[in-house]
Amino acid sequence: MTKNISLTRYLVEQQRLQGHIPSQLRLLLEVVARACKGISQAVNKGALGGVLGTAGSENVQGEVQKKLDIIANEVLIEANEWGGHLAAMASEEMDSIYVVPNRYPQGEYLLLFDPLDGSSNIDVNVSIGTIFSVLKKPEGSTAIEEKDFLQAGSKQVAAGYCVYGPQTTLVLTVGDGVAMFTLDREQGSFVLTEEHVQIPQDTQEFAINMSNMRHWDEPVTRYIDECLLGSDGPRGKNFNMRWIASMVADVHRILTRGGVFLYPWDKREPEKPGKLRLMYEANPMSWLIEQAGGASTNGRERILDIKPSKLHERVSVVLGSKNEVERVTRFHLEQK
Ligand code: AHG
Ligand code: MN
Ligand code: MN
Ligand code: MN
Repeated sequence: MTKNISLTRYLVEQQRLQGHIPSQLRLLLEVVARACKGISQAVNKGALGGVLGTAGSENVQGEVQKKLDIIANEVLIEANEWGGHLAAMASEEMDSIYVVPNRYPQGEYLLLFDPLDGSSNIDVNVSIGTIFSVLKKPEGSTAIEEKDFLQAGSKQVAAGYCVYGPQTTLVLTVGDGVAMFTLDREQGSFVLTEEHVQIPQDTQEFAINMSNMRHWDEPVTRYIDECLLGSDGPRGKNFNMRWIASMVADVHRILTRGGVFLYPWDKREPEKPGKLRLMYEANPMSWLIEQAGGASTNGRERILDIKPSKLHERVSVVLGSKNEVERVTRFHLEQK
């Protein structure tokens, strides 16, 4: 374990030595981390803090909002709007973009977030998290509009998530590999606990919501059927399954020990490309996974190459250990 390197020091060194982050981006990441600390505290209080249960409202995707979805969204906005590093924000829990009010200076960056990922796990005390993605405001754009956000994931300048589990862990990339920081509650700071994270190329563990099996497309059925045949089947090995239903926690496991995660398109809602959102769920996670030597596709093409056409666009997701993702993708491309 690397000792005594705080997130602040890591970012300063990235700025000084590697040239990956200008000072405005460093400030932005510090502020996001501080907001995550605040969310972590609210999550930890649980019933004692009165933060469990639903808020009774719906978001633009038609999902019932939990109190913590709204609290986390507010914490992120309040922490980020006044620092001068941002031009605008966008979130799963807001219909349209939030432009930094003109009483504050406008910065160069755009921040997108899923304030609380894994909402269905809040009330049952299972790991949840926050996912974020940072883009650069397009050159020459003054009055920020939604279309300024519609950049491919390959344009991200930073991405990460914070998982609120047995430990609170912040996972980050600025394009120089993946680093993990554990929250030291006594010190009140994130401490570097893992650097240059690498995902094994092969795995014997898959993550998919099996209850949707009857709705899957043929390539997904083909892939999972082969896994389920175990050592007697074409894979010649047994597979284990995990499904936490918090993308942050499933991706965190994959970054830690490998695996493949699928939330594919299915026939329940054929007009939707998938359940997960491209810009603030799939893109940041895909970049982290690629930075750790894994792969991420929508079954046919690299997620980071997709040019979004709207803020809340959805996408089919296959990510994790490279050889498994390539297999699932090949099955899709071979589909008649
Ligand atoms: P969110 O809570 O931000 O709406 O995201 C939930 C997502 C994701 O975290 C998870 O992988 C997936 O929904 C679980 O979906 P199912 O309940 O359909 O398994
Ligand atoms: Mn939601
Ligand atoms: Mn989510
Ligand atoms: Mn969410």
